[in-house]
Amino acid sequence: MATSPKRIALGVTGGIAAYKAAELLRLLQDQGHEVQVIMTESAQRFIAPLTFAALSGRRVITDMFEDQPECEREDDSIEHISVAQRIDALVIAPATANTLAKLAHGIADDFLTVLALATRAPLIVAPAMNVNMWEHAATRANVATLKARGVRIIQPDTGILACGMTGAGRLADVGVIADAVLAELARQQDLRGEIFLITAGPTREPVDPVRYLGNRSSGKMGFALAEAAHRRGARVLTVSGPAAIEPPSGVETVRVETTDQMAEAVLDRLSEATAIVMAAAVADYQAVEVARSKIKKEQGALTLMLEPTRDILGEITVRHQPNQLLVGFAAETDDLLENARAKLRSKRLDLVVANNVTQEGAGFDVDTNIATLVFADGDYKALPRMSKLELAHCVLDELVKLRLNRT
Ligand code: CTP
Repeated sequence: MATSPKRIALGVTGGIAAYKAAELLRLLQDQGHEVQVIMTESAQRFIAPLTFAALSGRRVITDMFEDQPECEREDDSIEHISVAQRIDALVIAPATANTLAKLAHGIADDFLTVLALATRAPLIVAPAMNVNMWEHAATRANVATLKARGVRIIQPDTGILACGMTGAGRLADVGVIADAVLAELARQQDLRGEIFLITAGPTREPVDPVRYLGNRSSGKMGFALAEAAHRRGARVLTVSGPAAIEPPSGVETVRVETTDQMAEAVLDRLSEATAIVMAAAVADYQAVEVARSKIKKEQGALTLMLEPTRDILGEITVRHQPNQLLVGFAAETDDLLENARAKLRSKRLDLVVANNVTQEGAGFDVDTNIATLVFADGDYKALPRMSKLELAHCVLDELVKLRLNRT
């Protein structure tokens, strides 16, 4: 996968596999990329910085407080901040259990972990350790935290380990690690020129001045899509209901409350968009009459007359232009594929992201999702459980392909 030359930071931490990072460095440089190596203190006990300095032709960063030579400074900024802003990807290989723990908890006590916190560039981590350490509940939890945050973890290989034990924990093949880094770089600007209109969160339908009908949507999926599309170079506009989290930075957000307001905001901006992704869990019903005063309990049992809300996607279907990519979500509890295909046909969608919301680790208010992508040609792709950010990237990968087929 060829990309224009990029700047990669390669973090090396203290493990027997540290020497393999030299081969990774070479593979990345062979693709024309510039690599800045950063070593932790314990990494330097396994391999000398000189090896990486000679291979990369650059000073290896080994110390948080070391003075950066004048000739290497690109500006007056502090080194970890300037590196953080300059790089297109940060790969840590090998990553020890200790480094994984620090990354998961935001501990920043050396150059590498400070850099990991300060950069907005994607992070790819290739762990290597003893099998018991890899399988320990603490490491499992740290890996899950990092994955949920969108960090790309390269699963270690299974085999004989340096400690003599057999099991998972060997650093993945460096070719596999290099491919993951290159794939991440290739994604970076592949949505440049696209304008995404993304809905997120729930909508709320008032019942009286204090109560509403709503659902458990957090907005995480819609915002993950917004973040991923923005990172890949698209201009992104989100229309969000009352979400539990803040929208990602760099993304324009219109806040709404009701389905009607969401419909108006979406239709208002529809013509600007080149791709529309309807990730919001729109309330399907609204009260026929909204009480002006708070409904008091004394009246006993309460019957609410509800009517369907506006079908936003249905309104888009009749207005959208053929070159606008249209993606819907289908939150189902039964007959996932059949229901998703029916929605795809009736709304003339390019893609439906379908999930069974009763499955553990899928659906509302969790960091992960288990989705099946259903395409207009009848084909489908069942994806494993993954973070919402990873799922967002998978959806965007498909949209990139659909766009290529259309032009
Ligand atoms: N949607 C919409 N307007 C609504 C309801 C849903 O635009 N009033 C959109 C959602 O954002 C989602 C898609 O339609 O992209 C499907 O939503 P879902 O609730 O799964 O399905 P519905 O079409 O509402 O059908 P049903 O509830 O019968 O499954």
